[in-house]
Amino acid sequence: MKPKIFITRKIPNNIVKKLEENCELAMWNSEDTPVPRHILQEKIREVDGLYCLLTDEIDEQMIESAQQLKVISNMAVGFNNIDITAAKANGIIVTNTPDVLTETTADLTFALLMATARRIPEAVDYIKNDQWRTWSPMQLTGRDIHGATLGIIGMGRIGTAVARRALGFNMNIIFHNRNKNLRSVEDLHAAYVSLETLLREADFVCVMVPYTKHTHHLIAERELKMMKRTSILINTSRGGVVDEHALYQVLKEHNIFGAGLDVFAQEPINASHPLVSLPNVVALPHIGSASVQTRHKMAELAAENLICVLEKRQPPYRIV
Ligand code: DGY
Repeated sequence: MKPKIFITRKIPNNIVKKLEENCELAMWNSEDTPVPRHILQEKIREVDGLYCLLTDEIDEQMIESAQQLKVISNMAVGFNNIDITAAKANGIIVTNTPDVLTETTADLTFALLMATARRIPEAVDYIKNDQWRTWSPMQLTGRDIHGATLGIIGMGRIGTAVARRALGFNMNIIFHNRNKNLRSVEDLHAAYVSLETLLREADFVCVMVPYTKHTHHLIAERELKMMKRTSILINTSRGGVVDEHALYQVLKEHNIFGAGLDVFAQEPINASHPLVSLPNVVALPHIGSASVQTRHKMAELAAENLICVLEKRQPPYRIV
């Protein structure tokens, strides 16, 4: 008998076919909306494998309703949507999809940095709203990227890939990380500094840490107030790492120049979100890894992780 699995959203057809060769499969077949919690709770009861997304909250209660679950395969590198402790206590293996999305997410992080510094969305709207009357010396002026100091908080795979891009812009790179002796930064001329020094000195503060109880509101009022009035905050990790209320205040009072945000504490957000109303914010709908090639690679890797566990083989990326 094939093991049973549940997939919480439509994924590419070729991946579904591959999974069908090995598994008896059910998939949440709605238009692009998350599976309702009560349905997920019913499904998780009867399957051996769960293929899920970062929008699915797999908490302790959900995990405890599973009767025969062996693996939770998350199609994301971040896994803050899963209660890892509960999974481990119940003997369930959890997997994720790092590496395949590193470069794509670094590309987007850099694009967001540039868009925020050079006010690109505002400039696009300027024409669309028929505001362009003449060339003028200080019109839509932003901040220079070349030669500026980039501060990376969390020099992991993606942070390092962002730093590599920054070298091409002749940026000075400083970083703050749990481990300060990183071999991966040796050729980046990147200097380890304390969080305080990074906040005070960086022209761009780039938040690249995983979201855990230790990084919740890592950047709050105190930290934001250490930043220069001319500096820019970029967050492509998880919304909860930054205190959004404090961020709104410093942006509104122009105590920092701007913020580029791909992630929010509660997603999705809409046009009425306070941060979106500010002209010095560039807000994106969590698209860090959203290239066609990378999303296919993530979907494929999540399938491989899942099949490996169900076949009692070591998955490529196991968290617990
Ligand atoms: C992740 O994988 O955790 C990103 O946030 C989405 O690609």
